[in-house]
Amino acid sequence: MANTLTVPGTLGIDFGTSNSAAAYRKPGQLAQLLPLEGAANGMPTALFFNTEEHSTHFGRDAMQQYLAGEEGRLMRSLKSLLGSSLLLEKTAVHEQLISYQDIIAIFLKRVAEQARKALDGALPERVVLGRPVHFVDAHPERDRQAQDALAAAARTAGLGEVSFQLEPIAAALDYEQRLTEEKLVLVVDIGGGTSDFTVVRLGPQQARHADRKQDILATTGVHIGGTDFDHRLNVSQVMPLLGYKHIGPSGREVPSGVFFDLSTWHLIQWLYTAKSLAAARNLKTDYRDPQLHQRLMKVLDWREGHRLADAVEQAKIAASRSHAASAIALGWLEDDLPADISPQVLQDQLQALLQQVVDCARECVALAGVAAPDAIYLTGGSSALRTLRDALRIAFPEVPQVEGDLFGGVATGLAYA
Ligand SMILES: Nc1ncnc2c1ncn2[C@@H]1O[C@H](COP(=O)(O)OP(=O)(O)OP(=O)(O)O)[C@@H](O)[C@H]1O
Ligand SMILES: [Mg+2]
Repeated sequence: MANTLTVPGTLGIDFGTSNSAAAYRKPGQLAQLLPLEGAANGMPTALFFNTEEHSTHFGRDAMQQYLAGEEGRLMRSLKSLLGSSLLLEKTAVHEQLISYQDIIAIFLKRVAEQARKALDGALPERVVLGRPVHFVDAHPERDRQAQDALAAAARTAGLGEVSFQLEPIAAALDYEQRLTEEKLVLVVDIGGGTSDFTVVRLGPQQARHADRKQDILATTGVHIGGTDFDHRLNVSQVMPLLGYKHIGPSGREVPSGVFFDLSTWHLIQWLYTAKSLAAARNLKTDYRDPQLHQRLMKVLDWREGHRLADAVEQAKIAASRSHAASAIALGWLEDDLPADISPQVLQDQLQALLQQVVDCARECVALAGVAAPDAIYLTGGSSALRTLRDALRIAFPEVPQVEGDLFGGVATGLAYA
């Protein structure tokens, strides 16, 4: 790394779709998560550009600024733009036109600064970034572009030349630290943007091998994660209140594009351009009930798309934790709007997506050429979903499920990579 103080060892950075974390490993020691926001290990992958104060905010602070109604722009789910042409689109930030790749660099720079702060002003000489098994499904060219773009953003952030490790393998290396005997493990990492799997031989003996290639029997991944669950739930539980599937005077449904974009974390900001706003305003004649259109325009004109997505996500998490129906907080839009997420809704709406996730896990085990693993190791925030765990239990009966550190395991494992 140029012009910076370095210390021996490895810095692992898990740049996640929803949350990011970093860990440091001093040679010969255990890896430690580093505080990234106050005392908290890890932070939401979120930036807020406050236009009034010309200030830039990160993590929880960014979310709070946005939710408090500060004037400015929120950026979330930036990782979902890697491998898409939107990544190089320019956008105005503090009166400058910069690309979304540059915004990723600004975020990584913050992670690097926080890491350096935690390490008395020095950065480890080696930096390893995680990457999903596929940034882009079935598209090797765009997948390579995605990794190259992330490497370029890391350079811009002052991290120098970084290496990459697959996120599920990193999660496995973290789990391995706790094992006292050899195990064949299916690692399941269900995050915000992707679901990744590896079948890997882990154990105290294996951990000593410098080259782990022969221990990694298979890896698979699919571009489905918690943000896709949010999308599905938003479309089914909230968008009808804004006119999705609403039949207009001509007998046709209101065109659905705006509802899909509004429910997709990484596409929300494109709805606030003058052109998109005008198109949404013009939908008025497609509605029979003007109140539904007014709600849509309120969300768009007030730039409340992320607030809506956040309300859906929070209700999803609450329902997932409590196994009871949870209201979607929409009081800021209108009093008494009926919208909630129940365990049955989670089951019904996420079934098709979870089936694809479980198929990808089965494929991993099949590719590994084993009948069944000794254990399933669960990590990533979305692995907390009971419906997912139940589906895995059906796919791999009798295989014990072990829960890991859902949010810090990948970063810790990257520091061992
Ligand atoms: N208890 C819960 N039940 C269901 N989903 C949850 C729960 N807690 C968090 N999530 C979801 O987990 C996701 C974030 O998980 P995580 O931080 O592991 O993802 P990430 O590492 O940022 O994403 P990726 O690895 O795909 O890039 C979010 O979609 C969040 O809504
Ligand atoms: Mg992750």
